[in-house]
Amino acid sequence: MSVVIACLSQKGGVGKSTLARLIAWTYASAEWQVKICDFNTKQLTSVDWVAQRMAAGHKPEIAAEPYSSVKGFRKEQFDLLVVDGRPDSDNSSLEIARVADLCVLPTGLAIDDLKPQVMFANELRSKGIPRERILLVLNKITESAIAVTEARGYLRSAGYAVAETDLAAKTGYQMAQNAGRAIAETNFTSLNERADELAAEIVNRVNELPRIAA
Ligand SMILES: Nc1ncnc2c1ncn2[C@@H]1O[C@H](COP(=O)(O)OP(=O)(O)O)[C@@H](O)[C@H]1O
Ligand SMILES: [Mg+2]
Repeated sequence: MSVVIACLSQKGGVGKSTLARLIAWTYASAEWQVKICDFNTKQLTSVDWVAQRMAAGHKPEIAAEPYSSVKGFRKEQFDLLVVDGRPDSDNSSLEIARVADLCVLPTGLAIDDLKPQVMFANELRSKGIPRERILLVLNKITESAIAVTEARGYLRSAGYAVAETDLAAKTGYQMAQNAGRAIAETNFTSLNERADELAAEIVNRVNELPRIAA
């Protein structure tokens, strides 16, 4: 049975696809067989990205396919399924969260991003998803240390774990992804290290949790 890591949020543009690709790339680099299950069937961002990787000959290979349900997950032969969620989909998100070993919820620093993500996490909790299977990640942060501290405080007081490593808004991250690369494969060592740190945290967290049989 595959490990399942799901990147979810009801808002678009917060970093689901970015984190899904980072996670997929990290495990694939450790020689896991990885598939991204792209639930954003309108945009297929991750499917396109994988096609771009293939065309450019980037290694390691990562698979991706459009998905609209988790029904086939049990039969998958991959070591890891990374769900790239789609926005505005309570029901599909819940269905995904139920089979996910870990739900990764990216959010920006603005209260406009934080609040809906907390409400979404609360919704998952109310439907029986355990707190420890939810990890918030601060993405697209700016220089303001105060804003970061406040955002962390907000999420923690709502009862959620927040990744220690957050991701700055960087053109380098954007450009890497435009070129079919993960955010740990940019041209900038410091950016790659940061992305690697975040990925390591996610991997550690997954390793600490008992496996869910998808
Ligand atoms: N930390 C970051 N720095 C710069 N650009 C980012 C960062 N995170 C995401 N982006 C960019 O922001 C846009 C939205 O991110 P994406 O991961 O596609 O969000 P979602 O899948 O939640 O809609 C994409 O163009 C992506 O490349
Ligand atoms: Mg997306």
